[in-house]
Amino acid sequence: MCKKVSILRADGVNQKRVLLIVGGGVAAYKVLELVRLLRKAGVAVRPILTAAGAQFVTALSLGALAEDPVRSDLFSLEGEAEMGHIELSRSADLVVVAPATADLMAKAANGLADDLASTTLLATDKPVLMAPAMNVRMWLHAATQRNLATLRGDGVAFVGPDDGAMACGEYGPGRMAEPEAIFRAVTAALENSEGPLAGRHVLVTAGPTAEPIDPVRVLTNRSSGKQGYAIAGALAALGARVTLVSGPTALATPAGVVRVDVETAREMEAACRRTLPADAAVCVAAVSDWRPDAVFPVKLKKGHAGPPAVTLVENPDILAGLAAVGPCRPTLVVGFAAETNDLEENARAKLARKGCDWIVANDVGEVGIMGGDENEVLVFDAAGFERWPRAGKAEVARRLASRIAAALATGARA
Ligand code: CTP
Repeated sequence: MCKKVSILRADGVNQKRVLLIVGGGVAAYKVLELVRLLRKAGVAVRPILTAAGAQFVTALSLGALAEDPVRSDLFSLEGEAEMGHIELSRSADLVVVAPATADLMAKAANGLADDLASTTLLATDKPVLMAPAMNVRMWLHAATQRNLATLRGDGVAFVGPDDGAMACGEYGPGRMAEPEAIFRAVTAALENSEGPLAGRHVLVTAGPTAEPIDPVRVLTNRSSGKQGYAIAGALAALGARVTLVSGPTALATPAGVVRVDVETAREMEAACRRTLPADAAVCVAAVSDWRPDAVFPVKLKKGHAGPPAVTLVENPDILAGLAAVGPCRPTLVVGFAAETNDLEENARAKLARKGCDWIVANDVGEVGIMGGDENEVLVFDAAGFERWPRAGKAEVARRLASRIAAALATGARA
């Protein structure tokens, strides 16, 4: 049975990750409750504690609740060896700053980077959510309000502050939002709740696969992964929760996309199955049709016996498996067809053979398509086909993502 699950899974590849920056304010104690709520919901929490934050909560309690070591020092050899600060800044789906002090807001608004927290905020390419907490006069000060406007303009989201009595004895706006409210804002941000694909989960495969021959050699192909990555990014931009199962590529993960790295076709198939259920699956990967039937355990050497014979066996067809009728079948299954000849005929045959709903066919024999930045495709479905003009891969991706959104909205496959 293929049950619908919450996005906030504690176990598998879909687990959401939050990088939590804890600033220095009395409200820091409330962050411990936020961490508890997030962990209970299955969200991974990686904490960064500023020097000022450490005056209010201990690294021990924060790390124990987060079940992850607390990072504090930009120049920590140990920390950098384990995970560099740039990598750290991109290791999460969302960066949360709570409490966001006047100082942290000012630094972020002005691009200062003199400690681990501010450097992370400057280096991240992930969405940022801030929960401000400060004295009412500090909050209302023109400088803080300027910084707030700048940060909003930069795309930073805010939760709170609330009105209320403060630890300093004053009353007014500046109190950090309650942990439950921050928790709701975090989960909403993680759910990516805007756009026509909001609430939808889409699986995308991309890149080549690499099938080992021996410890140093692989059987692979020229796929760059560019079209699949662009599609994953375009779907996420429309609000979908996207799991990108990718073979080896040199590409950066598109914003808002959860990427699962694999090497072989069998690993790709297993990762795809783990990520179900999905509303749609888009198989763009150039999966190696064959793999060596056995991997030589040591590097093959040139010898007097001549070149070794490598016997190939067929790999599982991931697209056909996903399209097979059953409780786990995504509503819409889209395949790609890489052809070098008889494009139309081969694409139609593939649509029938694979059991998928659409085939996006491209002529990979044409110069500049495989590995290039442009694509020229024909989109086949049960009703017929559309010819799309040659365009950048990003444009083809946007058009396909819109077509997927429209199809899911009407429940139609054609
Ligand atoms: N595909 C797959 N698993 C495979 C082979 C292909 O999921 N083992 C998917 C690709 O991701 C693509 C579609 O099937 O969406 C068609 O891939 P393509 O290489 O064009 O076709 P093949 O099935 O390999 O058939 P042939 O090589 O005979 O053209």
